[in-house]
Amino acid sequence: MTVDLSSPFHIGPVEIPSRLVLAPMAGVSVQAFRRQGRQHGAGLVCSEMVSCQGLHHRNERTLGYLRIAEDERPLAVQIFGSDPAVMAEAATMVEAAGADILDMNFGCPVPKVTKTGAGATLLEQPDEAAAIVSAVCEAIDIPVTVKMRRGLRDGSRAALEVGPRLVEAGASALTLHPRSAKQMYTGHADHTLTAELVELVDVPVIASGDVATYADARDLFEQTGCAAVMVGRAAQGNPWVLGQMLDPDAPPPLPEEVVAELVYFMRETMRELGEQRAEGFLKKFYGWYLTRGRFPRSFKQELVQLATLSDVEERLFGAVPGARDRVVALEVERPPAPDQTLELPISIYGGG
Ligand SMILES: Cc1cc2nc3c(=O)[nH]c(=O)nc-3n(C[C@H](O)[C@H](O)[C@H](O)COP(=O)(O)O)c2cc1C
Repeated sequence: MTVDLSSPFHIGPVEIPSRLVLAPMAGVSVQAFRRQGRQHGAGLVCSEMVSCQGLHHRNERTLGYLRIAEDERPLAVQIFGSDPAVMAEAATMVEAAGADILDMNFGCPVPKVTKTGAGATLLEQPDEAAAIVSAVCEAIDIPVTVKMRRGLRDGSRAALEVGPRLVEAGASALTLHPRSAKQMYTGHADHTLTAELVELVDVPVIASGDVATYADARDLFEQTGCAAVMVGRAAQGNPWVLGQMLDPDAPPPLPEEVVAELVYFMRETMRELGEQRAEGFLKKFYGWYLTRGRFPRSFKQELVQLATLSDVEERLFGAVPGARDRVVALEVERPPAPDQTLELPISIYGGG
């Protein structure tokens, strides 16, 4: 089946304008990243996973993850936890913050999360998992979706057992990253399971794992019948990959475009996180933007040593002077929409 990646699909009543979903990634999926993903062709973007306990305790840093702006939408916010009542409470906060979709993480393999009964642990506890989905669906009106791994152990098929239960309990779409929790990111995502899941449920299935090129995306649609593909690591410092999936003839970005997009991203991130947090957060992005054969490795190593973000900007403009005008153009083209969150403490805005 040939699918036009730029065609829309629906999750519940929410129209998703393309078949590309930008993956939720902890420590990566800030507003600036999501906004950039939408600009480059993602039909849906997602926050990183947000602790329902953190929301319950009104932890300021956690509440900051609920900042949403109009130009990110459609947007999903992902929560994780194991207690149905606390998850339902967190879901109402996400809905009030303006998310279009509430996603739940039933796939995180990190022990800090799994040992609390959350994340991938739920894949092998179908009753508990379904109870969480029911409680959350009852608490909110926006569509509820779940992101899964294949199971805890290598070779597990748990997602195929729990997936239909989650749909029965009210889930409007499922995402499958078919690696086991034990695998973390090693080996390959086994998308034969994705094809099986598509056969088992009558809601859209989003395929996640190892989608890095247009050919990967096309083959995955053909092999699995998925409704959309999710792009994660391939989009880190590389939003152009999304555009190339929508138009495989699109040329690779020029050095001026790469540097301008990075500087714009740095400025947006600084506005969002404040200068101090942004400095540490951004270091990993220098390598992601500037390697991939675009600049010598030593350039990135030089940037991470610089003291301030304005030093980094100046060094980037020194290397690629043509990027300066492009940043000005980007700032005119993409004026940030104001955050639309209204019912949260004011202290989380403005770089908090
Ligand atoms: C740094 C990093 C952080 C991630 N954080 C999350 C997360 O918060 N929630 C989630 O559901 N998946 C998370 N993932 C998994 C991705 O969403 C995705 O399923 C996985 O990376 C496979 O897709 P890829 O091969 O396109 O990267 C994370 C992955 C990475 C690399």
